[in-house]
Amino acid sequence: MKKILVTGGLGYIGSHTVVELQNSGFQVIIIDNLSNSSIDVLEGLTNITKTAPSFERLDLRIKADVTDFFKRNQDIEGIIHFAASKAVGESVENPLLYYENNLNTLIYLLQECKAYGINNFIFSSSCTVYGEPDSLPITENAPVKAATSPYGNTKQISEEILKDACSISTLKSIALRYFNPIGAHETAEIGELPAGVPQNLVPFITQTAAGVRKELSVFGDDYPTEDGSCVRDYIHVVDLAKAHVTALQRLLLNKNETQFEVFNLGTGRGSSVLEVVESFEKTTGEKLNYKIVDRRPGDVISVYADTKKANEILGWKAEKTMEDALASAWKWEKKVREIA
Ligand code: NAD
Ligand code: WQD
Repeated sequence: MKKILVTGGLGYIGSHTVVELQNSGFQVIIIDNLSNSSIDVLEGLTNITKTAPSFERLDLRIKADVTDFFKRNQDIEGIIHFAASKAVGESVENPLLYYENNLNTLIYLLQECKAYGINNFIFSSSCTVYGEPDSLPITENAPVKAATSPYGNTKQISEEILKDACSISTLKSIALRYFNPIGAHETAEIGELPAGVPQNLVPFITQTAAGVRKELSVFGDDYPTEDGSCVRDYIHVVDLAKAHVTALQRLLLNKNETQFEVFNLGTGRGSSVLEVVESFEKTTGEKLNYKIVDRRPGDVISVYADTKKANEILGWKAEKTMEDALASAWKWEKKVREIA
């Protein structure tokens, strides 16, 4: 059984990926400092897979602890690195926190990869690196635009760090550029747990439907899109999770074409905010309280992936629908809020 380290494995995307890894026969060890997740996620993971993953509560910013961890775990064959801070607005308020947490942790891990000959590294990147794209759908060859937030900048810099690290060693790495992950596991054992007021659309929608928020603010209906609201590529988190297993297997089997590769992970379809609202109402039968307000500063107009490279070269395709994702997000929200 190959042993895989999943950093941030108790978080939203990490936890769903742990399920897919365990279901595919990998032995998983999770590192998380619980800064944006709960220890209860371990129980959810165990309930789904009937196997408890190993877990160490560890802060990857503490280099001595990272070094000590690898000294004790010399049989790790691959790393999937999710751990990071991800709130765009907070990164503008506190850039150094973001540069420290998102860059130092990556560097410390890569130093251990070098020390112990760990050659397989999957990194969580983001479609935010494309900024406002020149053309749609966005291919991996689209230019990386000047970042509009320290968070976005950490993803760009991280990709460069990985590329440089790969160029001088035996390290192989895949950066997965996620579009907008939504939804939860169909069992409602795990899902998204935003701290405080959700910044992302779908958790705000489900919390509004659950009565936790009064109403959803739709940020702008005067964009140059079909209905005036912004367009995104919303991808089911379980589809996203499966792509990590495919990417990891690609590296473990040395099927990669270059030492550093990049793939878009999206559905290839763009949906507007108002379409998501409508789809939520239709799928769940819940009436959503919402109003149109001003644009949110920094929002890009329209973003969706060209998925050809992931489909043809990685051999992965998103299979679930928007309705699947919204139904699962609602089932999860109801469980969290104890709504019958
Ligand atoms: P998340 O916050 O739910 O998960 C991240 C996990 O990492 C959390 O459990 C947190 O406690 C842990 N963590 C953070 N800093 C740590 C540290 N120093 N040491 C140990 N653990 C630490 O976030 P997510 O949505 O699951 O995102 C996972 C990754 O995907 C992140 O790198 C994020 O930037 C990236 N990403 C997310 C999205 C999205 O919309 N959710 C989109 C694109 C990229
Ligand atoms: C989606 C759409 C909003 C909330 C962010 C990060 C990005 C990436 C994913 C990590 C937009 C609208 C939202 C609300 C709304 N993360 N909206 N009312 O902005 O595409 O991307 O998360 O890498 O880096 O920037 O996602 O879910 O915040 O917004 O109308 O209350 O929903 O304006 O059009 P976004 P989002």
